[in-house]
Parts: sequence; C-alpha cells; structure tokens
Amino acid sequence: MDAVMDAVLIAEHLTKHYRIRRGLSGHGLVKALNDVSFSLDAGKTLAVVGESGCGKSTLARQLTMIETPTSGRVLIDGRDITQADRAQRALLRRRIQIIFQNPFASLNPRKTVKATLSEPLVVNTSFNAQQRAARIEAAMQTVGLRPEYMQRYPHMFSGGQRQRIAIARAMILEPGIVVADEPVSALDVSIQAQILNLLMDLQERFGTSYVFITHNLAVARHIAHTIIVMYLGGIVESGDTKSLFERPRHPYTRALISAAPVIGAAQRTNKTRLQGELPSPLNLPSGCAFHQRCPYAVERCRRETPLLRNVAQRYVACHRAEELNDA
Ligand SMILES: Nc1ncnc2c1ncn2[C@@H]1O[C@H](COP(=O)(O)OP(=O)(O)OP(=O)(O)O)[C@@H](O)[C@H]1O
Ligand SMILES: [Mg+2]
Repeated sequence: MDAVMDAVLIAEHLTKHYRIRRGLSGHGLVKALNDVSFSLDAGKTLAVVGESGCGKSTLARQLTMIETPTSGRVLIDGRDITQADRAQRALLRRRIQIIFQNPFASLNPRKTVKATLSEPLVVNTSFNAQQRAARIEAAMQTVGLRPEYMQRYPHMFSGGQRQRIAIARAMILEPGIVVADEPVSALDVSIQAQILNLLMDLQERFGTSYVFITHNLAVARHIAHTIIVMYLGGIVESGDTKSLFERPRHPYTRALISAAPVIGAAQRTNKTRLQGELPSPLNLPSGCAFHQRCPYAVERCRRETPLLRNVAQRYVACHRAEELNDA
C-alpha cells in the first residue's frame, strides 16, 4: 500500500520558536520544536514520548491549530492546514480534536455535560435540539457514561468519568484524528487502564487515528503502533513500537527505557544512564542536542547535528547508530 495515501496526518519540518523577554531589555528564543516530521496512518496510534519540556505539548498545539508553527507544514488528508482559508480551516478543525491531561481543568465547571457536549454540535452542525440530544445520548453511551447523567456538572463525576466526558466531547463529531496529550497521567493507576482500553475500543469502532502523547513508556508500549522519541524539540528515534522497545538504537531511547524498570527488562543488554541536566531550549547545545549527556559522544557529535536517517528498520538521529547497533 502506498504510505502517503494511507496517511491522515503528516507533519513536515514542523518548527515552533517562542520569543520571550529576558531580563530588562533582552530577548530570548525558546526553540521548543525543531524540524519535526512524521506521518500517521488511518486507524493507527502514534505515541510521542520524551522527558518533560521536550516539546510534546508544543507539537500537539501545532497539530490541532491552537497555534501556528514558525515554519513547516501540517497536512490533514493531504491538505496543508497552514495554507487553508477560513472555511477550509473550520472543516479541518472538525477532523482533528484534542484531549488534555487534566479533565478537571479542561471542562467548564459551570456547564452540565449536556451543555458541554452540545457546543460542538451547535457550532458545527445544523442539528435541531432533538437531534443534538440523541447524539449526546449516543456519545455518552459510547464512552461508558449513563445518559441520565446529562444534566450533571463536572464536579459530580470522578476523575475517570470526567475524562470520559472530555473524550465524548472530542469524539462527538467523529473527528477521525484525535491528539491526546497525557490523557491518563492525572488519573489513578487503576483508572488509567480503563481509559486506555476505552480509547482503543473507540479506535476499533470508528477507525480513529491517535497522536498519543505520554511520558509513560509502559503506556506508549501498550497503546501505540509506532513511536517517536523526542529530545529538546527534535525527534531522535522513531519506528514501530515492538522493535523500538526490543532494540532501542539511540542512546537517549536506551536511557529512557533503562530508567523505566518494568519495561523490556529481558531484552535489555546495555544499561545507559542519563547523566547531567537537560539543557535549555533557550540555548540548544551545538551539534547533537544530546551530546553532553551521552556516554558515547565523540568529537563529531559536538560539531555536527545528526540528521534523522534510516538505520535497520528505524529512523535514528545519531552519528554512531551503526557502530552502537551491536553494543
Ligand atoms: N508559550 C510559550 N512561551 C515560551 N516558551 C514556551 C511556551 N510554551 C512552551 N514553552 C517552552 O517550550 C519547551 C517545550 O514545552 P512543552 O510544554 O511543549 O513540553 P512537554 O514535552 O509538553 O513537557 P511536559 O511533559 O512537562 O508536559 C519548554 O521549555 C517550555 O518551557
Ligand atoms: Mg506537555
């Protein structure tokens, strides 16, 4: 099958820099996202993993049109959202929805579930009140909430139920693509699995494609077909989930997996520990952004930025990927 034809979402050289004030007169440039490219196929899940501050939420905001990228493109169904006119953007917005980490903050406390779920229908459809109520009932059932609770307010629900409401809101227009930014991180561990299973059920039922952002590698491994690993705003490694966990190739991916003790313990031959502090995106290191923390760094890594390239069924941004392959 043609990979490009199957892709519902493509990011090309996506870059986001924030200009900030520093001190009394100075300015700084936060390079939050740097030249990120990937594609997501219909009905699949792409997980985005990496430490706090590596640019995951920034990526989510560019993909969902909450912000405009500094450069690069986002294509939905082959259409460039950055070039779309108002009318096209409105249609594309229906195709891609976002779920946030914290359902306490993302739901309006003064609105009933019914009012919250009505909103996207009022804005985007010509449904009458009766049709809206029917759609809301169906959406609540789909996410495992009792439709009788429609008139309740967010505070009357548990954290897990609230995230179900947020999922219903994202799914009610059958968007096709959902960006979920740490959707289970704020929930009790016992509830996390239920919400993950719900998302997987919805994918099976509606063929939804997910960009699933998480710092939790076990969650990524459970839910994703493919993974991208980010470090300081750039992709350092990407590939299919199984092979990436079994044989991480980038030293940073290895370190991440080493640091998560329950994952991949059997296959792990080489422990890599993260040394030093995460550099600031205000002042990116020269060469490879990871070189100061990398146990394998050589002179070249300090000078030359490694490009993401194909290494044995994987994309890896590391000058020494081949050499380290068998280490
Ligand atoms: N509006 C902004 N203005 C300036 N800097 C920003 C802005 N938004 C994000 N940043 C910076 O960009 C970098 C990436 O932030 P981002 O929130 O995308 O990281 P993240 O991977 O989502 O982290 P976390 O796991 O903690 O949610 C951080 O250094 C952050 O401080
Ligand atoms: Mg974030």
